[in-house]
Amino acid sequence: MTRDKLGAYNIEDLRQNAKRKLPRGIFEFVDGGAEDGIAVKNNRGAYRSLKIKNRVLVDVSGRSTETEIFGKKITMPYGISPTGSGGIVSYGGEIEIAKAAAKMGVPCTVATNALTPMEEICEKAGGDLWFQLYMWDDREMSMTFMDRVKAAGFETLMVTVDGPVGPNREYNYRNGFSMPLHYSPRLFAQLLAKPEWCVRVLAQQYLRRGAFKKENYPPELSRKITGSDLSYKHVKSDSQSWDDIRRIRDMWPGNMLIKGLQSKEDAVIAMEEGLQGVILSNHGGRYVDCAPAPLQVLPEVRAAVGDRIRVIIDSGARRGSDIVKAIALGADMVMSGRPTLWGAAAAGETGAYRALEIFREETDRIMAQCGFNTVEEIGPQIFWNPPNWVPRIEESLSAAAE
Ligand SMILES: Cc1cc2nc3c(=O)[nH]c(=O)nc-3n(C[C@H](O)[C@H](O)[C@H](O)COP(=O)(O)O)c2cc1C
Repeated sequence: MTRDKLGAYNIEDLRQNAKRKLPRGIFEFVDGGAEDGIAVKNNRGAYRSLKIKNRVLVDVSGRSTETEIFGKKITMPYGISPTGSGGIVSYGGEIEIAKAAAKMGVPCTVATNALTPMEEICEKAGGDLWFQLYMWDDREMSMTFMDRVKAAGFETLMVTVDGPVGPNREYNYRNGFSMPLHYSPRLFAQLLAKPEWCVRVLAQQYLRRGAFKKENYPPELSRKITGSDLSYKHVKSDSQSWDDIRRIRDMWPGNMLIKGLQSKEDAVIAMEEGLQGVILSNHGGRYVDCAPAPLQVLPEVRAAVGDRIRVIIDSGARRGSDIVKAIALGADMVMSGRPTLWGAAAAGETGAYRALEIFREETDRIMAQCGFNTVEEIGPQIFWNPPNWVPRIEESLSAAAE
């Protein structure tokens, strides 16, 4: 499929394409945030508020967007965040998204809540796959599950630690969307309005795999969530603490990160506990509606942890210039979940790849405009008249000189 045929010149085009294709409840589930959607808007607003200056007469003919994360070369400083819903936007969506990431040469995170078994994603997609863990109330079940994750061959583990209780997403209540799907007349009406999705996703799913379900869950937990007990406790525990993180750290042989923190205090504890990195994230605005944008807390987190751990950021990046802005503020890598979901909804693996291609092309373009040949050269000198949460370039230079 050519770019013109898909009609996607930017991430927003893919979002609009997904909107046309997906039943309303599913589109809103992917697109929306919590409560009034303030955090979703602020995540974008934070990126948009930063202005960057170009530099002229710099030879950038040898530039590259390549960098590394945990010793592995990546095509650009970008990776795919975990989302438990790839399989509902496109049949086998999680495999398609992971294949797109492998083809592009960027990491992709497989979610505990995936609708495709982790082993199948590993086998069919390959590439640099990370695993995202939600800890269940039954800790022994979680620990046994970790053995399965290890056996599947993942090297990098990301434990999601935000959202101890279920989010307040009012559009889901209104449009009748839930996972697992409960087929109400309201949902049926939405499905009938999108016959292409019914053929391309729903029919394929039922013919080949049966009802949508969280395929990584142990059978006893699966039975609970498909029954009438929809307690959020079955998805994520509200009693998890640093003790659990220590226990997992002690049994996990590879890199371990926690995802969902928004403060330098938590990042410092993560560092002191010996983790390899943190993912600053407000879950794409899907939990705390009055949360700051991760971009806004990034500079203070980087200042607190220095270079001792990897600081990754997600929530709201939609342009290559956003990636460059986050790197300039101290991020090692930027992630997002929605863009490749929208891409997969638009055109499966091709659409997910298109999302990555857009990020790469835009990152390359803005690096050239700013006079950078390497990702490592990107720094806060690019900002013009920055807001007060952005470190002044003079401060950064004097810190570097010390
Ligand atoms: C539909 C959807 C499902 C998600 N599922 C998970 C999940 O299972 N585990 C998790 O840690 N984060 C999950 N997230 C959050 C993403 O990992 C990520 O933090 C978020 O998408 C970042 O926002 P952005 O995509 O707007 O940049 C989900 C996000 C979306 C949109």
